[in-house]
Amino acid sequence: MADRFLVTGGLGCIGAWAAHELLAEGCEVIVADLGSSDHRLRNLVGEHPSGLTRVALDITDADQVMACFAEHRPTHVVHLAALQVPFCKADPVGGARVNVVGTVALLEAMAEHLPDRVFSYASSVAAYGGEDEPTVDGVAAADPQGKPHTLYGVYKRANEESAAVYHADRGLSSIGLRPYVVYGVGRDQGVTSSPNMAMLAAAQGEPFHISYGGRAVYQHGRDAARAFIAAARSDYDGACVVNLPGDEVSMQDIIAAIRAVVPEAEITLDDVQLPFPPSVDASGFDRVVGAVPRYPLDEGVAETIGRFRALIAAGAVIVPQR
Ligand SMILES: NC(=O)c1ccc[n+]([C@@H]2O[C@H](COP(=O)([O-])OP(=O)(O)OC[C@H]3O[C@@H](n4cnc5c(N)ncnc54)[C@H](O)[C@@H]3O)[C@@H](O)[C@H]2O)c1
Repeated sequence: MADRFLVTGGLGCIGAWAAHELLAEGCEVIVADLGSSDHRLRNLVGEHPSGLTRVALDITDADQVMACFAEHRPTHVVHLAALQVPFCKADPVGGARVNVVGTVALLEAMAEHLPDRVFSYASSVAAYGGEDEPTVDGVAAADPQGKPHTLYGVYKRANEESAAVYHADRGLSSIGLRPYVVYGVGRDQGVTSSPNMAMLAAAQGEPFHISYGGRAVYQHGRDAARAFIAAARSDYDGACVVNLPGDEVSMQDIIAAIRAVVPEAEITLDDVQLPFPPSVDASGFDRVVGAVPRYPLDEGVAETIGRFRALIAAGAVIVPQR
């Protein structure tokens, strides 16, 4: 039987890429999301691909989550649904409901319906303590030692601790992945979407101002999705959280990669470091999950601009219509 993946937040950037990768393998995919805009999914997999089921699910409703597992009987789960930093800041209670309560609802449903599978879920680099995070030679340890600076980061830390308790109490294994900056078609919201929007502007022939600079770790959406899928399929026993591997580069390197494709791209930036450590130890991923092939940065940026160009030519909706 082909794998049947439940992807929460499947209308989001990484979720749409997960659907793209899984459908290409011939898997069944249940995209469960509350979101109103399905442009990311449509732009990656088309209108009605075979193997895809879409479910309207609010993960803050534990009964709905349990019923979704009972009805659709997934064999694997990738949990991505969340509100990002600005949304949690604007609505802290709503952010806690989605990011913390919603994740506990998923953990409950996993423990009930898929106790022998690994729960693959998204944490974030925001679980780290920003500039105050202790580093050795500029590299932060595999596990955060400092205090997160955003409610979003606090909520992600809470999820990491909840997953550990579910392993201790109920024997449910989990792998939390901490992405840093994900880019690629579909990345159009959250603090760190700005360089990706610069790639879109370059494809459109428009100037763009990037809201931050400094060094960060960049991951293409396809590669992030592959990592979550591999984690869900692993036979890991335990509850761990690992940083998602990627390319550790400066914003100047990103701009150079964009200009390699669009030499005339007009891009300016505020050269301020994000409130995260510039480099994090991601060696745990290969140890726990195994290496997953990734785009080199220049290829990932070129793929993104090429895909944006094709979508522009087709008149597609590329960013949310607010
Ligand atoms: N994109 C990044 O750079 C990045 C970095 C670190 C961590 N992450 C984490 O990775 C995950 C996926 O990120 P993304 O970039 O795909 O996010 P995204 O914002 O593009 O997508 C999130 C999805 O969650 C859905 N959602 C929100 N509330 C919901 C609810 N109550 N019930 C069901 N669905 C709901 C939204 O509609 C949206 O489609 C998130 O957990 C995010 O916090 C992402």
